[in-house]
Amino acid sequence: LPYNMKIAVVGTGYVGLVTGTCFAEVGIDVTCVDIDENKIENLRNGILPIYEPGLEEMVNRNVKAERLHFSTNLGEAVKGTDVVFIAVGTPPGQDGSADLKYVLAVARGIGENIDSYCVVVTKSTVPVGTAAKVRVELEGALAKRKANIEFDVASNPEFLKEGAAIDDFLRPDRIVVGVGSERVEEVMRRLYKPFLLNGHPIIFMDIPSAEMTKYAANAMLATKISFMNDIANLCEIIGADVNMVRRGIGSDTRIGTKFIYPGIGYGGSCFPKDVKALIKTAHENGYQMKVLKAVENVNETQKEVLFNKAKKHFGNDLKGKKFAVWGLSFKPNTDDMREAPSLIIIEKLLAEGASITAYDPVAIAEAKHTLGKTITYAKDQFEALVDADALLVVTEWPEFRSPSFKVMGHLLKQKVIFDGRNIYDPAEMKQIGFAYYCIGIRTDHEEPVA
Ligand code: UDX
Repeated sequence: LPYNMKIAVVGTGYVGLVTGTCFAEVGIDVTCVDIDENKIENLRNGILPIYEPGLEEMVNRNVKAERLHFSTNLGEAVKGTDVVFIAVGTPPGQDGSADLKYVLAVARGIGENIDSYCVVVTKSTVPVGTAAKVRVELEGALAKRKANIEFDVASNPEFLKEGAAIDDFLRPDRIVVGVGSERVEEVMRRLYKPFLLNGHPIIFMDIPSAEMTKYAANAMLATKISFMNDIANLCEIIGADVNMVRRGIGSDTRIGTKFIYPGIGYGGSCFPKDVKALIKTAHENGYQMKVLKAVENVNETQKEVLFNKAKKHFGNDLKGKKFAVWGLSFKPNTDDMREAPSLIIIEKLLAEGASITAYDPVAIAEAKHTLGKTITYAKDQFEALVDADALLVVTEWPEFRSPSFKVMGHLLKQKVIFDGRNIYDPAEMKQIGFAYYCIGIRTDHEEPVA
């Protein structure tokens, strides 16, 4: 092999695919494995299961260079590798805890097939203690084979943001690796060396601390958002402007300017799931996460704020009203609909007898899986406005930021906007005669709500 290292990445979901492709990009021989034959066949043909800016091009380039391979054969893929990443799903069970059956099945499969020393790394977000369980599965499988092959486990949480995953991977703020020996540390340092050239730190620690770091990071970010949403709601009541308050506090470097934007609640595949899982882990260990429970609670109610404003505006009667919805995905630059606030808002509007025409630049196909024919989908953002009684801005896609309000005023039946992402200027909206509602700034039409 012309390459310095050979790795396998098991699971071609979001995390696995980005991880495998980025390692190939820096010149490592990578095989991505999945049990879904269809998915693997598509990937070989350059068809990706997810939308992520820049990824398709990078996959195709590395497949062509024969550094990136796709396979359904776990046994073949793990032979002769230095590192095997486990990046399969950990769907939340009914009680909110992560279901480890896929992770442990892969661990068994690795144990049944490896032929030389390798490091088995958990990359999926997994509860504290999972790497230890992975070790037990591998030991069991190796004992059954009566094979005397050494291996190590490590925990290497990912901090990728959807929509910016490639950049986050290639230029990480930090790389966290939980290890139990110097031998593993050396392998992992060698693997990540291409990403450390610009001074990005790799932080080694014990395995439970690495597993905990991922949850603590996401829980802290979710807390910042819920805290700001709480402050925003209070700003409306007392007549303060949350944008000013945000700038006022963000300039304190201890607080920072990021992740303090109020909105309609956090969504996505990570924050809701990880906050729930951490509360659950604590509870199982006899401890109550009081702050996180409040964070979750604020988020649930925040998803209803825009709906409540709409209901109030129309005198509690939404029957027969037509709404335009701009944005369906949980945030811009992704087609991910998981835990998207749009789903709650739409469900509540429909339950009141309203009708909805929605537009999203990339998430419509994905949204149809859940919403089906309960709403209509527009071909572009302006078509959605035709004869609508109001517009709801649900996701802050860049193209929604500076539309022609004149055109919008003509298309809409009533000049009413409920903006869940604060992308317009309340003063300008007032001047051009729109009834404008946003988050954390009480506008003229609003009474203080308690
Ligand atoms: C997040 C973490 O950022 C990432 O490190 C982790 O690995 C996975 O979870 P992601 O879910 O892709 O990534 O989305 P992110 O960009 O962090 O946004 C999460 C949610 O918070 C979105 O719903 C967004 O609208 C909301 N948000 C974000 C706010 O409401 N206000 C903010 O100031 C920032």
